Amino acid sequence: MPLIHIADMLNHAYENHYAVAAFDVVSLDFISGVMAAAEEKHAPVIISLAESHFEHFDFELLMAAVVRSAERSTIPVAIHLDHGESLESAVRAVNLGCTGIMVDASNQPLDENIAKTRAVVDMAHACGIPVEGELGYVPGVEGEDAERHPGDVQYTTVEEARRYIDETGADFLAVSIGTVHGRMKGEPKLDIERLARINDALKLPLVIHGGTGLREDQYRSLIDNGVTKINYYTALADAAGQRIKANVESETNCSYTSHTHGVAEAVQHEAERCIDIWGSSGRADAMLASCRPWLAVEHVIFFNTEKLNTAATEDMMNEGRKVIGSIPGVQRVFTGHAVDEDSSYRHCWVVRFSARAVIDSYRDHPAHQDFADNRFRPYAGSRLSIDFEECNVEK
Ligand code: 13P
Repeated sequence: MPLIHIADMLNHAYENHYAVAAFDVVSLDFISGVMAAAEEKHAPVIISLAESHFEHFDFELLMAAVVRSAERSTIPVAIHLDHGESLESAVRAVNLGCTGIMVDASNQPLDENIAKTRAVVDMAHACGIPVEGELGYVPGVEGEDAERHPGDVQYTTVEEARRYIDETGADFLAVSIGTVHGRMKGEPKLDIERLARINDALKLPLVIHGGTGLREDQYRSLIDNGVTKINYYTALADAAGQRIKANVESETNCSYTSHTHGVAEAVQHEAERCIDIWGSSGRADAMLASCRPWLAVEHVIFFNTEKLNTAATEDMMNEGRKVIGSIPGVQRVFTGHAVDEDSSYRHCWVVRFSARAVIDSYRDHPAHQDFADNRFRPYAGSRLSIDFEECNVEK
């Protein structure tokens, strides 16, 4: 039962005063290192994929590996889109298997930030998926020197935070209280007093971006004041990069595998250090016992067509794959023909929904209604339709 509801995960952390690590991954070595660290520490973990990193990997391919690594894990896992830039990328992330979405419009005026966040919340909530928004501005870019992207920290204010949460319905809030993304220049100075006031006003899980480079006592103060998710990347990337540099310097041959060996272990080592400091070590069992598992739903339809020959049936099914596959919450569409020609039903759709909530939002989605009313139901005279929720398999 590895994938669990991220809202339950962060609420558990909030109530028990620790933070779950949200590690950005950019390769299979990062996924392996982060998952090995979480397994070793028996800790819950959030695997994050940042839209700003999409130029470095194929999002769809890496998501397949993330989903598979969550499925085979024994510790609680959530999969998060980090710094999603648009509604379109949020839909794509949901359909590829993310169980939490961050929308980041924090560099825009408040009204626009609220409107963009609200649109993502409406879509994601209809798929049963919680949303993290960001208010105030955390400058910098993950993995780079902060001084190369100076910007100015724009601190989150309590009043705006209240309005933002009321008007967007976001489930978690990323706050700006002095951290920056990437390598810091100088000593980090955090406005913990501001964080405490935001926490008092909102009483919901808070998120810190720019987790690299803080002192242990600073992490502790963040967690004492409502931070339950710490986003972390640059130090993992530096550990990986240093390992590659050492390999390059010590190896005589020039092969890819000799230059990259040990990268997963370097990532694992740094991830374990964070998990220990942030207090999530050893929390896996308690969390699994108290949080809802994340269960997919298969929407299965068996049918026979009337007034359509084989080629026209195939056309209708191909069209449906495209239309249905783009509806938020639809992770996969399988269309098939019965192998046994004597079967009572000759054709099927098997549509995988990311969660139970999609049963309703899919049924009511205009693209589905149009296809069902005009292209499917008039020709699929006899049919049987059943939604199956995945069994909760004990590990
Ligand atoms: P760092 O790269 O500074 O650790 O920040 C990561 C982050 O905030 C990802 O969203």
